[in-house]
Amino acid sequence: MKILVTGGAGYIASHTNLELLNAGYDVVAFDNFSNSSIESIHRVERLTGKKISFYETDLLDKEALTDIFSKENIDAVIHFAGLKAVGESCEIPLKYFKNNLSGTITLLEVMESFGVKNLVFSSSATVYGDPETVPVTEDFPLSATNPYGRTKLMIEEMLRDIYKADSSWNIAILRYFNPIGAHESGEIGEDPNGIPNNLVPYIAKVASGVLDKIHVFGNDYDTPDGTGVRDYIHVVDLSLGHIKAIEKLQENPGLVTYNLGTGVGYSVFDIIHNYEKACGKKLPYVIDPRRPGDIAVTYADPSKALKELGWKAERGIDKMCEDTYRWQSKYPNGYKSK
Ligand code: UD1
Repeated sequence: MKILVTGGAGYIASHTNLELLNAGYDVVAFDNFSNSSIESIHRVERLTGKKISFYETDLLDKEALTDIFSKENIDAVIHFAGLKAVGESCEIPLKYFKNNLSGTITLLEVMESFGVKNLVFSSSATVYGDPETVPVTEDFPLSATNPYGRTKLMIEEMLRDIYKADSSWNIAILRYFNPIGAHESGEIGEDPNGIPNNLVPYIAKVASGVLDKIHVFGNDYDTPDGTGVRDYIHVVDLSLGHIKAIEKLQENPGLVTYNLGTGVGYSVFDIIHNYEKACGKKLPYVIDPRRPGDIAVTYADPSKALKELGWKAERGIDKMCEDTYRWQSKYPNGYKSK
């Protein structure tokens, strides 16, 4: 079975490529390298001893996408490609609407014209906005608090409408909580452009001396230690969820939506302390004001994915921090490291 992975050189995609190849799938991937490197593709090929059929292409380039579909016999698509920086999306929303929405529409049109109707979509827990209670189940009300989140929500709505109009589509919407960690080889991991926006990549840069201290965004939330609580999930567990989703679409077609999280919430201080254990040293931090748009607490109820996909996150917070640390120590400047 041949899977097309859009945004195939990115963080979650590279780990998913590896698991797909190990599970015996053929992988075709494309990326425009706006926030990724060809090196992740090479490393996955080295780790698995298998080839990825790779194209340097933009999601908005309909001709190039058509070319890929006519050359390769694609059976299903895992759609990761998209912009994902919340802050930037508030400053330049149009860029987000153009890339994420027009890009996805382009992809769906090409898929439809080739009769490829199996899709796994990379959504996010951001579609729950600020949930009233936790844990969050898939039937919670949906909302968006920023343009990035709105693109995820709008794509979900588009997919539900498309399925309503034509139930021969098979669609799995996966709502990720907070992916962290790296492959245990330390050869692939998260490699954001510039100064990281997200907590764990930032901590990793402080631990390796690239940045001088962690900024904790608020210690006055209504949580046990005052800092924000999230459901951090190991990227390898998350990737394995995609394999289960592909299997599910084959066995039991339809439109399905799953939370991919662990069901456990950790605070910012919990993460700092666990990372300190992994790297064996104290990490400096300061308390800053709350980051606009942040919520106090969110974590998943992942029981639907367990019941219907037979999927469960297996890797705990220690492993998430150890694996991030291994990747960061081997490659302090990510894929650009010598
Ligand atoms: C962010 C995005 C979310 C996206 C997800 C995955 C925002 C507001 N939300 O989630 O839409 O789906 O990433 O890419 O950006 N924190 C610090 N210091 C830092 C960074 C973060 O204290 O330098 C805190 C935050 O306040 C939060 C927690 O750490 O409590 C996690 O933050 P982050 O890693 O950015 O993820 P989210 O905000 O949950």
